[in-house]
Amino acid sequence: PMIKTLFGLSQLEEEISSFLGVDQVFIVPGDVDRSNLVKKDMGRAAARILKQRSVEKQIVAVSGGSSVLAVAENMVSTQVLKQTTFIPTRGGVGEAVELEANYIASLMAKQTGGSYRLLHIPDELSEGAYHTLIQEPYIRQVLDDLKQAKIVIHGIGDAKSMAMRRQSSSDIIRKLEDAKAVGESFGYYFDVHGQIVHRVSTVGLRLEEVYQAKHVIAVAGGKSKAAAITAVCTKMKPQVLVTDETAARFILDKY
Ligand code: G3H
Repeated sequence: PMIKTLFGLSQLEEEISSFLGVDQVFIVPGDVDRSNLVKKDMGRAAARILKQRSVEKQIVAVSGGSSVLAVAENMVSTQVLKQTTFIPTRGGVGEAVELEANYIASLMAKQTGGSYRLLHIPDELSEGAYHTLIQEPYIRQVLDDLKQAKIVIHGIGDAKSMAMRRQSSSDIIRKLEDAKAVGESFGYYFDVHGQIVHRVSTVGLRLEEVYQAKHVIAVAGGKSKAAAITAVCTKMKPQVLVTDETAARFILDKY
């Protein structure tokens, strides 16, 4: 708290909270785009909030990305977390395995002594493959469990980088540009006003299912994410946003 007063971060937290309509905003000093230590601080803060809001025998839905990876790396075992099942919000994007939701869910389980399930399928599927796969009993079971999540913890992507990371076609990239998509979460792309402009057909948590969770915790920082955070939080209104000072100041200046 002392350091927050020193940097005026408490006031910034309140301003961001009312600007985005997010109940609780937690801001760490610095800029994640410039320092990995800041990402670590953001991860530690989110890990603490996750621990505080956890209840016995809960399911926690976990997205991919380096910000949520930082959360996993900073988690420790507690009695309650030992009884937690961590489930990825979707399948694999096909990038570095450490950034996949599957890996991060398994890491959270390892760090805490909890358990995990996997969605070992590609994130983006053709219509035909999608309908066939969701009939598979194992996948259905994981998807049913995922819908019971008490807590969802997720990253927020910059639309363009996410399309690149997914190796989306040039048609999709053009569509996203035309629609002025700036943010991505759960396979949905949003413009800065929070309108959904594109959706990838993924096997995993749907937006209406995310809203069923008691606590949604978004973790994202850096100037490069200011527009994406504004877009996703305006629409989704997570209960908690963990971000950094640079993103917060940029959001207030620009939007
Ligand atoms: O879901 C959003 C992205 O995966 C965020 O990735 O935390 O590595 O920027 P990042």
